[in-house]
Amino acid sequence: MSSLRLGVNIDHVATVRNARGGSMPDPVRAAQEAVAAGADGITAHLREDRRHIRDADIAALKALPVPLNLEMAATDEMVGIALHTRPHAACLVPEKREERTTEGGLDIVGGREHLAPRIATLTEAGIRVSLFVEPDEAVMDAAHALGAPVVELHTGSYCEAAVAGDAPRVAHELDRIVRAAAHGAGLGLEIHAGHGLTLDSVGPVSAVPQLRELNIGHALIAEAIFVGLRQAVHDMRAAMDRARR
Ligand code: PXP
Repeated sequence: MSSLRLGVNIDHVATVRNARGGSMPDPVRAAQEAVAAGADGITAHLREDRRHIRDADIAALKALPVPLNLEMAATDEMVGIALHTRPHAACLVPEKREERTTEGGLDIVGGREHLAPRIATLTEAGIRVSLFVEPDEAVMDAAHALGAPVVELHTGSYCEAAVAGDAPRVAHELDRIVRAAAHGAGLGLEIHAGHGLTLDSVGPVSAVPQLRELNIGHALIAEAIFVGLRQAVHDMRAAMDRARR
């Protein structure tokens, strides 16, 4: 099976930094540690309210010699920042001010008119666009019709079921991911996944053969408090690799 890339999301290093103002812990240093431990790229979400990552972080992360995946809402402000910064990839996500984290996938059917020109603008600038979507076959068709080369499957429902220890729901949610990945890849989409993944839940998702990349943040930063970021990334990478054998 082809190898699975790991994008490490360093948003919550910035969350801790911002709790006190100042500059520590430094998200750029965290990115460097993650790469030293086997991350293939760095992911960061510049939210409208700048609650964790800020504009200056994005500029500093872009200067690192690793691919930067910029998670962003499909707004004119964020498209402007992406065109200026030129990240390797842009992952379009739905964004609500009141949410704690990205709660669901993009509405790419209802949002088609809004999304299509922004996807085209980013693509023309050489930025690889991915759409953060629910793992659903009809959604794969809609993403393909929009012309995005990549989809990132939202693994939140699967992870919630795993945390709850609800085996039938885990099986159901995993099956949705398996079917969406196969269908999307059959259409020519590159398939990524992420949200809520932990060392315990990452294996079955990593074993889905069409997956090319996982983006993982919160669980890694949480575990880093106890074992250090290098070890946390190393352990996640190892769990992903074991599942691909
Ligand atoms: N992928 C996307 C599109 C996300 O919005 C997030 C959360 O910022 C993640 C992956 C990572 O999720 P988590 O921090 O729960 O691992």
